[in-house]
Amino acid sequence: QVGQKANEVRSAVRQKIDDRRAELEAQEIQKLLNDPHFDATLPALETRAGSLHPVTLITEHIEDVFRAMGFYLLDYPEVETEENNFEGLNIPATHPARDMQDTFWLNDGNLLRTHTSPGQVRAMAEYKPPFRAIFPGRVFRYESTDASHEHTFHQVEGLMIEKEISVANLIASMKTLISEVLERDVTIRLRPGYFPFVEPGFELDIQCQVCHGNGCSVCKKSGWLELLPCGLVHPNVLRFGGLDPEVWSGWAFGLGLSRLVMMKYQIEDIRHLMAGDIRFISQFRKG
Ligand code: DAH
Repeated sequence: QVGQKANEVRSAVRQKIDDRRAELEAQEIQKLLNDPHFDATLPALETRAGSLHPVTLITEHIEDVFRAMGFYLLDYPEVETEENNFEGLNIPATHPARDMQDTFWLNDGNLLRTHTSPGQVRAMAEYKPPFRAIFPGRVFRYESTDASHEHTFHQVEGLMIEKEISVANLIASMKTLISEVLERDVTIRLRPGYFPFVEPGFELDIQCQVCHGNGCSVCKKSGWLELLPCGLVHPNVLRFGGLDPEVWSGWAFGLGLSRLVMMKYQIEDIRHLMAGDIRFISQFRKG
């Protein structure tokens, strides 16, 4: 009996609330209709869904491609030790290669990482071989800016540690990466390239997608864009990571994400990417 009564009370209260709400809504509508400035025939205000930054779109795409191939997705700090950024990658203090990567130093002796490669040192310390991983992120260089240089830009690093890795493995993986990400056939070329942390090292270039090889400010009139430096992990780097180079081998790449974004969307100036202009950013949609 009590339950029955309670139910009656509840529906009575609910009814009252509904009635009152309808009454208030009707009043509100009436008030608007009486307002000479209100025009019910005008379209409603548009709600705008946000959109992702093109660098985020491409990063997520690359993450999907590599995760499907069994790669870990790792996130490493932007503030690095000098050791991880340089020494562990076979770049001692006296090495001329340091001049190419001038950076921002912090008062405590650490630095803003100049590349995502220190992730190689961290990953080798963290995971037991064999393993494969990618680590995307922001990197920093102390340099003057122009259409193709920024002080802050994005890279994604890849590292595969296995027994008996060859250059053929490397090239096959890089080809998959580029065709998946750009979603079109792209002309590429492979040149020898020097990086202290790989041996042999390569520069993988793609034909400039902005000018289709004719020459423009993005490709510095060469028609080609250095996009994907890569190589077989140097024995010193393996050793520094605690791995025996007689047993373990690997490949690594450091993909310039900002450049890739520019190629994919035919953006003519890298400085658009970090400028935070909503008119620029909102042009990019998934799909
Ligand atoms: N860390 C290099 C840079 O930013 C790029 C690089 C070259 C990364 C070769 C690699 C590699 O992993 O194998 O200039």
